[in-house]
Amino acid sequence: MIVGIPKECKNKEYRVSLMPQHIAFIAQTHKVILQQDAGLGAGFSNEDYMRSGAIMVPSMEDVYTQANLIIKVKEPLPQEYALIKPHHTLFTFFHFAASSVLTEAMLKSGATCIAYETIEDSKGGLPLLAPMSEVAGRLAGQQTAKYLEKPQGGSGILVGGVTGVDPAKAFILGGGVVGTNAAAVLLGMGADVTICDINESRLTALENAFDGKIQTLLATEENILAKLPLVDAVIGAVLVKGAKAPKLITKEMLSFLRPYSVLVDVAVDQGGCFETTKPTTHENPTYYVNDILHYAVTNMPGAVPRTSTQALSTKTFPYVIKLLNKSLNQLPTEILKGVNTHRGKLTNREVAAAFKLPYSNLSTILG
Ligand SMILES: NC(=O)c1ccc[n+]([C@@H]2O[C@H](COP(=O)([O-])OP(=O)(O)OC[C@H]3O[C@@H](n4cnc5c(N)ncnc54)[C@H](O)[C@@H]3O)[C@@H](O)[C@H]2O)c1
Repeated sequence: MIVGIPKECKNKEYRVSLMPQHIAFIAQTHKVILQQDAGLGAGFSNEDYMRSGAIMVPSMEDVYTQANLIIKVKEPLPQEYALIKPHHTLFTFFHFAASSVLTEAMLKSGATCIAYETIEDSKGGLPLLAPMSEVAGRLAGQQTAKYLEKPQGGSGILVGGVTGVDPAKAFILGGGVVGTNAAAVLLGMGADVTICDINESRLTALENAFDGKIQTLLATEENILAKLPLVDAVIGAVLVKGAKAPKLITKEMLSFLRPYSVLVDVAVDQGGCFETTKPTTHENPTYYVNDILHYAVTNMPGAVPRTSTQALSTKTFPYVIKLLNKSLNQLPTEILKGVNTHRGKLTNREVAAAFKLPYSNLSTILG
């Protein structure tokens, strides 16, 4: 197998999929083609990669032409679509349920697309989404504090309050990895934090983990509606594996919030859990709907590429090793759960349901 690492081309995306130390290990037995400057944004020079044994090429086209196992960070963009062929296996974040265009393009390419976010361990955890959710959750806490400031467009509330003045009230929808990490940061800054989730045992675990310092709420429409007039910021952090995010706050419900409240939709990569969410970039991260400030950057961890690359490469590396020189038939179930498309067939049930496309069972295809 020839491993290829293109430079990420999404807006302000500075992560690179693998660190030089991991390339060094792979390059002992496999050719590794790396696009020049791919690691610069994360603080890894071309020389670092050349010393590790990677072969440097000038363009993304060279990477796709020469390699068959492509390791990336974010989903391919339209300028990459024509370069992706049936012999390619792509290992990266895809978040297919958020984009019918991407789904159609990858089906048309005939490539095998293995999505980091649907790789699932034996306990049902998402080991390759988790490190980036940890980053995005912590950033969501920081962004909430920042955008509550008046010059940033918010209502002008200091997240931790001061003596005699209440702190900001933050409401987090979804108490998984993102929600827990956002809560930890906001709590650390002195905010008043409530987490809601549909999973009661998750809420109990959170009460215990935070030693009773946060409030918890069962995620029902009535509970969410009752909470909205009382909060200054809402963080969207729900996930239904592989599927489009459920819309928990409709456009109509925005009128329950105070003007210039802040909505941070981390779940935007799965379509967003606010009806009014539309994907934004690090360059233009926010917009208003009915005087409510929305932040919905689809690649939040790209803002801290050094930390994110270290966290991601460390977790993906063992899976890359498992992929080398193996046919799909030889791969463990946890990786097979990551296969979303194969030879023009859609092999993820949730994505098929999101776009009403035919679903094909991977085991049946593989025989
Ligand atoms: N924007 C970004 O840059 C970025 C980065 C990393 C992760 N994410 C996204 O953040 C989202 C959350 O990821 P995670 O790792 O925390 O997932 P997770 O699986 O750890 O947690 C999701 C939580 O949502 C809860 N949930 C599901 N449906 C719900 C509902 N209807 N109401 C309330 N709670 C509900 C689940 O019970 C679970 O506790 C995902 O969409 C993920 O892709 C985005």
